[in-house]
Amino acid sequence: MPSTFPPRTDPLWRLTAACDADTRPDRLDLLVGVYRDDTGSSPVFGAVAEAERSLAARSPSKEYLGPAGNRDFTNALTRMLFPSEDVRARTLAVQSVAGTGALRLLAELLAATGPDRTVHLGTPAYLNHRTILTAAGLRVREYPMLLPDGRPDPNASLAAVATAAPGDALLIQGCCHNPTGAAMPTQSWEELAHAMAERGVVPFVDHAYFGLGDGLDADLEGVRRMLDILPEAVVAVSASKAWGLYNERTGCAIVVSDDPARRALAHSVLETTARAGYSQPPDHGARIVHEILTRPELRTRWSAELDSMRLRLGHLREGLTDALVRRTASAEFEPLREQRGMFLRLPLSEDQMGRLRDEHGIHGLPSGRINLAGVPTLLVDRVADAITRVHGGPEAARPVLTGARG
Ligand SMILES: Cc1ncc(COP(=O)(O)O)c(C=O)c1O
Repeated sequence: MPSTFPPRTDPLWRLTAACDADTRPDRLDLLVGVYRDDTGSSPVFGAVAEAERSLAARSPSKEYLGPAGNRDFTNALTRMLFPSEDVRARTLAVQSVAGTGALRLLAELLAATGPDRTVHLGTPAYLNHRTILTAAGLRVREYPMLLPDGRPDPNASLAAVATAAPGDALLIQGCCHNPTGAAMPTQSWEELAHAMAERGVVPFVDHAYFGLGDGLDADLEGVRRMLDILPEAVVAVSASKAWGLYNERTGCAIVVSDDPARRALAHSVLETTARAGYSQPPDHGARIVHEILTRPELRTRWSAELDSMRLRLGHLREGLTDALVRRTASAEFEPLREQRGMFLRLPLSEDQMGRLRDEHGIHGLPSGRINLAGVPTLLVDRVADAITRVHGGPEAARPVLTGARG
């Protein structure tokens, strides 16, 4: 039987299995995008544990909620994301099975309402984006989004919009771009929004890492400005990283449109797609997020916890970059300081990333992406030594002292 299913493109889970099978005691798993503390574990937020305790004490019901999921959750989340009442009045939100589910629901919506639509995708991209878009039947056109030195090209998305057809969509990561760590200044969001308005291009925003870049409001500023300018947009939101609810599968698909008839149509497509796929999303994570966002003391605790994660990522990024610049004397590592979020994209080839894994037990993605949160502070020097050796900088030839390896 001929297969129309997209080819397997995401090596993440295969590499994770290979990492699990690596029996070296000092092997370091820097693969999957999960926040880890200095002990290497992925802790439950204190605010989440507290919310779970109060939910358990109140024994909320487990009855069906319908394909759009928990409306209290989607309302509270939408209020947090978009404080502007004007934007919220144009918004409809459907709970999804995490960020991935939101991406898929919205991709299905774009395909159903624009069969000739192309989605423009900056590369390197989050590996699952292309898979999700093509699985929904959308055409994908990729464009390079980085300059040769690894920094984001400020004109790349504008150029993609200039050649897009009216009705096409542009996939934009809201902040902390995976895998490049690129951060788009608010002014660029505004310029892009005006160019898209002129060309009739719809933004397809994927927000998975808010709070982990420059702070919650700073990370959401770009999409907020864009929605002030544009009449229509779709936004996929993940609660996996910002609340640490990875396996609770909590997210939200949001459609913004000035036109009530188009909102009603979108709602119907999203609900029908959900109903045909999984009927309704799981509720536990949605209740937790709602509890946190609507109880001031829990919300304060949660945002302090999120802030401390963000600050730790910033310290790790600075520490590792300093160590690499010192060791390699190479300007190639300087742009790492401008990256944001959970990941660091190293200027290493696929072959060098393979050596990092095989010779030093440090497991990252072939693209050069490592999970920064997975580097314990005490091991920053060991990681910098290993990267220097595979990169071939001036200190690469010196033997690595065991003590320095942590
Ligand atoms: C850019 C991006 N979008 C969406 C997701 C989906 O996250 P989840 O489905 O776990 O909420 C991820 C997960 O790593 C991601 O990196």
